[in-house]
Amino acid sequence: MSKDNLIIFDTTLRDGEQSPGASMTRDEKVRIARALEVMKVDIIEAGFPIASNGDFEAVKAVAEVIKDSTVCGLARAKQIDIERAGEAIKPANSGRIHTFLATSPIHMEHKLRMSPDEVVDAAVKAVRMARKYTDNVEFSPEDAGRSDPDFLCRILEAVIKEGATTINIPDTVGYNIPHQFGALIKDLMERIPNSDKAMFSVHCHNDLGLAVANSLSAVLQGARQVECTINGLGERAGNASLEEVVMAVRTRQDVFPCDTRIDTTQIVSCSKLVAGITGFNVQPNKAIVGANAFAHESGIHQDGVLKSRETYEIMRAQDVGWSTNRLVLGKHSGRNAFKTRMSELNIDFSSAEELNEVFARFKTLADKKHEIFDEDLQALVTETALETENETIKLVSLHVCCETGETSRATMTLNINGEERKAESSGDGPVDACFKAIEKLTGTGVKLQLYSVNAITPGTDSQGEVTVRVEKDGYVVNGQGADTDIVIASAKSYINALNKVVRNSGKTHPQLGDV
Ligand code: KIV
Ligand code: ZN
Repeated sequence: MSKDNLIIFDTTLRDGEQSPGASMTRDEKVRIARALEVMKVDIIEAGFPIASNGDFEAVKAVAEVIKDSTVCGLARAKQIDIERAGEAIKPANSGRIHTFLATSPIHMEHKLRMSPDEVVDAAVKAVRMARKYTDNVEFSPEDAGRSDPDFLCRILEAVIKEGATTINIPDTVGYNIPHQFGALIKDLMERIPNSDKAMFSVHCHNDLGLAVANSLSAVLQGARQVECTINGLGERAGNASLEEVVMAVRTRQDVFPCDTRIDTTQIVSCSKLVAGITGFNVQPNKAIVGANAFAHESGIHQDGVLKSRETYEIMRAQDVGWSTNRLVLGKHSGRNAFKTRMSELNIDFSSAEELNEVFARFKTLADKKHEIFDEDLQALVTETALETENETIKLVSLHVCCETGETSRATMTLNINGEERKAESSGDGPVDACFKAIEKLTGTGVKLQLYSVNAITPGTDSQGEVTVRVEKDGYVVNGQGADTDIVIASAKSYINALNKVVRNSGKTHPQLGDV
């Protein structure tokens, strides 16, 4: 019996980006979108174009480069949002507008201050407007998980009649329980007279840790699109994790009447790319993509796996992209070996200059470090991308002095808007001294919310990957930097965050505000 296709709608670049501090630049979004396309994601929700000019440009840039996945822009049920989303997705081979409006009593009364009749009317108008830009229109009744099913039937029948081709049921606040959420999907599909004219989709948040379970329960009851994110990134506790949904369905084909088109061997590299760009590290015990997901520590387990892998493993590590024989490069590796490995990691260069630039950085790193692992190569590309994006502030040089019993001192030279400036500062340790020197030179007044160092690979010569999160006037951004010297990596990450603060102004949040 042939299986149904389960559509994977990835919203890492939109809902994922709504995690405080996970905001991404246009170029970062394009890099992730390319990786999602290679992974064969069906639909990429690239952003919320009305939020800011930067968001609009990012969705447009993704629409321009992505050829094999549909590119989607989010819009509230407002004319101005829909026009902006329609403009942004115009260059796409295949574009979708996703419009939404809240339907739960609590949202209609307190957030929208609209009556149910007004909500139906606005939803229908929004779908009608969106259809002027594309015949691929998705409608979401926000907070459907706490909405009255009778009202959902009414509004969804009306928007399908108006031409909505996908109906997405969000559990916006992560309140639902699997059997109940599955039953809701079944009930809606059975009771809405024109439900066969639309694809039913689900979008679950993870506040109770049930986002994946709720999504899978809905799939068993007939939903054929799941909205999810890489590493489960997303608002608050996050969204359903793409890798968990995809691997559950693929591994349990005895249970599911459908399968996805996803090339699962791309999962780990995509997860690392998203973690690197957003600075949201993956916990070691995270299913599928955590560093320990396929590690067998206990002697009994190791013995079992060596005798027969199936004793303790239900999936093969290489099927999700954990490479078994990862090639290690070193300072004698030539351009060809470098390029081949990069291409195996799905990192392609848009020009010879870009290749030369990253290759030169590879050589510098190989001089400091004997063995270069895949993780180092990925960090090199992130690093190059960070530095080539119009940066107002650049690190020129750093001199740090630290000694037992003495106050650390940092002397820092930065290039700010083309002009070199130098400052000295002391601090409680070299990193503190360094950040104070940067602050002296830039005077941004940001507040540091998070500082974390992670060794990219094994060994004391490993590159340290530093993530900082800073806040300015309620706007939160992450910065990253990598280097074999963790003080330099720290300076790079702080500068990277400050550049983002300088570049971006506050953005509109899609789920705040009225229609
Ligand atoms: O969680 C939610 O309800 C959303 C909507 C915009 C679909 O993200
Ligand atoms: Zn959401």
